Amino acid sequence: MAFNMDSIIARIGILTVSDRVSLGEYEDKGGPAIRDWLTQALNSPWEAVVRIISDDEALIEATLCELSDREDCCLIITTGGTGPALRDVTPEATEKVCSKILPGFGERMRSVSIASVPTAILSRQTAGIRGQCLIINLPGNPAAIAECLHAVFPAVPCCIDLIGGTYLETYPDFCLDRNTTDRCGH
Ligand code: MTE
Repeated sequence: MAFNMDSIIARIGILTVSDRVSLGEYEDKGGPAIRDWLTQALNSPWEAVVRIISDDEALIEATLCELSDREDCCLIITTGGTGPALRDVTPEATEKVCSKILPGFGERMRSVSIASVPTAILSRQTAGIRGQCLIINLPGNPAAIAECLHAVFPAVPCCIDLIGGTYLETYPDFCLDRNTTDRCGH
């Protein structure tokens, strides 16, 4: 039987990490902003696997493992918990569950963000690989989401391809990754 890319639905984890959102004190604006951005960016079939949790390091680790290992997500995007405050531990949890860290993601997001927000330097956001899943941290401010995703997403389909994850294709006019396989050189 011929391999049909269209029949594979990529599963993407959207993880909001916030004590106040998880307690219902604040509305979750970050998770929906990620979903909206992906809807505009992705030209291949995908579905969201959404979680909202508190800033608890063990819980963040367990949820990242669940989304990658049991929910088969090829990509997890987190929002929140990347700053210097005591309860900000999303990067630590990400580093603990990943076998490889990709520092370029955080470097690129900070360098783009700092042009408009001087406090972007406070975010310790990073990215890494767990199995066939790419995990990317975004800051909690919903305004950061489009800015950071535009900055790094051109490299995302290629990265997921290189780790054997589910095929992702983006709209070239929205996201500058024109051809994933060509860009990856294989
Ligand atoms: N990056 C962008 N693009 N836009 C922002 O508003 N906020 C900064 C920084 N990075 C921000 C940003 C601030 S004020 C903080 S404290 C850190 O992200 C960490 O935010 P977090 O703890 O909510 O993840």
